[in-house]
Amino acid sequence: MAKFLVQKSAPLRGEVKISGSKNAVLPIMAAALLTEEKCEIKDVPALRDVEVMCRLLESLGASVEMDLAQNRVQIEASGKISWEAPFDLVKMMRASILVLGALLIRTGRAIIHLPGGCAIGKRPVELHLKGLRAMGVDIDEAQLNRGIVDAKVDKLCGSTIYLDFPSVGATEVIVMAATLADGVTILENAAQEPEIVDLANVLNKMGARIKGAGTDTIKIEGVERLKGVSHHVIPDRIEAGTFMVGAVMTGGSVLIKNIVADHLKAVIAKLRECGAEIYMTDEGLVVRGDRGPVNSTDIKTLPYPGFPTDMQSPFMALLTVAKGPSVVIETVFENRFMHVGEFNRMGANIKTNGNCAIIPGDKALQGAQVVATDLRAGAAVVLTGLVADGTTEVSQIYHVDRGYENFVEKLRALGANIMRVEE
Ligand code: UD1
Repeated sequence: MAKFLVQKSAPLRGEVKISGSKNAVLPIMAAALLTEEKCEIKDVPALRDVEVMCRLLESLGASVEMDLAQNRVQIEASGKISWEAPFDLVKMMRASILVLGALLIRTGRAIIHLPGGCAIGKRPVELHLKGLRAMGVDIDEAQLNRGIVDAKVDKLCGSTIYLDFPSVGATEVIVMAATLADGVTILENAAQEPEIVDLANVLNKMGARIKGAGTDTIKIEGVERLKGVSHHVIPDRIEAGTFMVGAVMTGGSVLIKNIVADHLKAVIAKLRECGAEIYMTDEGLVVRGDRGPVNSTDIKTLPYPGFPTDMQSPFMALLTVAKGPSVVIETVFENRFMHVGEFNRMGANIKTNGNCAIIPGDKALQGAQVVATDLRAGAAVVLTGLVADGTTEVSQIYHVDRGYENFVEKLRALGANIMRVEE
């Protein structure tokens, strides 16, 4: 098993180029199943989840050319498409559920075993299914009780759907299904994440008629067919936020290139409260953590445009070294504090009560043997290792490989003392 060895490092300095967004590219790849024509996706991050999605699309019958060295993927789903997603792939990645709408459109059927992914809560799919049912899809309840989505439809019909919670995955699945449904679909309390907007932009380029993506009400007018497309994926706002936290936490100064600062308003506001100086230049966003000590602050995760749950653990890493106590409240996932135990092994002394964590701050952290408990938590413990005395050994780093392209190389280029060892 591979590990990261992280040593206390000098402040991060220099520049880093952010990769394409993992959470944007996965639904866009699934959307390529909606047309028989070729789709070319550029700025695709070289990540394990992208490889899994390529294999999933291939197993469903699409022809996939994956050139991750050039950050490019071409997908052509012109042949017969199968409706059953193989369990060995689905169990590796929760985002496999994103093919659900496209399979129903192409084949009138979909069988998907409920997915795994990060162990950060139950992560059910009842909102995806509620939306599809409203569009005329029949879901086999007995199969669902056994953890299998077995769905059938003659023809999807537009409908008005209200999501009880603005689920990102449910919004993406319903929007994809609605593009080729009969009539108009109105999705209320939809997720507003930038990745939804990127998906809608791609689908509109393919000939779909989607309005309102990025707001809480999305209107989709069904069309007869979609065509091929070429598209550059948006930059990964969570990768960018992770490096921004790294710059502030180590007291460094980093130029973040290929970033959409508008996607990071909540993170930027909170980093400023912590004392960082942040400004935009022609080349990118400059993040300076060398202006003084880190102030404490409180955060509460929320659906976009609120503070992103995916930045909760990297930000908690920062708060462990702040001058004074901070409170973190997690409202998106019910079990997303597993990293607290890892920070505490390093001396952070964080207490939790339900979805609330109290971080005393001001701690001299010690290197320790820690685990990447999920994708973002893996990055967070690496950042903590950069400011802890001695060596931090991070295991289960396959989680980090799912979501950060060239993480070690990018950190080393900024002066971090980190290496990957294969055991
Ligand atoms: C996506 C992101 C993930 C991010 C999350 C929230 C991808 C590939 N992943 O995940 O990185 O952390 O958004 O920003 O884009 N829920 C239900 N019922 C449902 C669906 C969701 O209760 O039917 C709950 C989930 O259990 C969770 C919350 O809603 O507590 C958010 O889930 P959702 O927005 O669906 O996240 P994902 O699409 O899985």
